[in-house]
Amino acid sequence: MSADRPFDFDGKSIVVIGGTSGINLGIAQSFAAAGGNVGVASRSEEKVYAAVQSLKEIGATAVGATADVRNLDAIQSAFELFTDQLGEIDVVISGAAGNFPAKAVDMSSNGFAAVMNIDLLGTYHVMRTAYSHIVKPGGVVINISAPQSYVPMLLQSHVCAAKAGVDMLTRTLALEWGSDGIRVNSIVPGPIESTEGMKRLAPTAEALNAVIDSVPLNRLGTVSDIGQAAMFLASPYGEYITGAVVPVDGGWSLGGVTQLMDQFG
Ligand code: NAP
Ligand code: COA
Repeated sequence: MSADRPFDFDGKSIVVIGGTSGINLGIAQSFAAAGGNVGVASRSEEKVYAAVQSLKEIGATAVGATADVRNLDAIQSAFELFTDQLGEIDVVISGAAGNFPAKAVDMSSNGFAAVMNIDLLGTYHVMRTAYSHIVKPGGVVINISAPQSYVPMLLQSHVCAAKAGVDMLTRTLALEWGSDGIRVNSIVPGPIESTEGMKRLAPTAEALNAVIDSVPLNRLGTVSDIGQAAMFLASPYGEYITGAVVPVDGGWSLGGVTQLMDQFG
């Protein structure tokens, strides 16, 4: 431990599924900067290649695999590659997700299923596979959830249903795996700047400013905010935390009433 590197993952193996852009790539880069050896997987070969290059530039041993979380065999092959190259896995982050704004009655059954299958079934595939490859005792799984898990949102029925399921998988498998010494937690990012998710849900400057106004800490989050939280949960500092759903959102999901303040200056 040192002041400039508060978390130390030297020699540890970290796998980030859906780890090739945005928040999840930021998490992978945080662990890489803290000395971890990192494996990342997603659908696009180009994104996997670029992510691995960025991790190597940080100085990490990095391995990439192309896999769609909807395909259990592909996820199993990716984990076999990671274990082969990096050894037994210490930390697994599951963050692949899909999102588009649409009314429940307007989207097709296949549209609803696409998000359920990526976010929820995909998380199940990752966790089910991770169990065979993770260090026991001492392994840590972190699922990347979203505020939609417990804050109902217009045009987000598919994501709300899927992420609520993700957080129940977190809690259920924390129970099932406690005796193996595996901890399982969810991180719930708030609105994170310059991400695909925010581009889809707040596509204009006006919409983005309205979001910032609704965050008690009055700013968007950064991918580094989420990386720090993930490292905390995976570190010895978090060793008594399991089954937790942890918001990292500047207070956004409190949904508190602030308008009254206007009347009193
Ligand atoms: P993003 O950049 O689009 O990241 C999604 C990642 O998942 C990409 O690496 C993508 O790569 C991969 N992916 C998507 N579908 C996949 C599939 N079927 N199989 C395997 N990998 C797949 O989005 P983001 O905005 O950073 O979001 C990352 C996570 O944070 C998500 O879980 C999201 O729900 C959560 N989150 C985001 C925000 C936000 O403000 N952005 C807020 C709350 C929660 P490929 O395209 O190569 O597959
Ligand atoms: N509105 C309504 N329906 C939509 C839609 C939109 N904006 N975008 C996709 N769909 C529907 C499609 O029409 C299709 O249904 P159909 O076959 O009945 O026409 C269904 O969703 C699946 O679309 P498809 O493009 O075949 O799915 P995919 O598996 O290639 O991609 C998505 C999955 C749709 C979730 C895609 O947006 C994606 O890959 N997202 C990953 C990145 C992301 O969302 N990042 C933000 C994370 S917070």
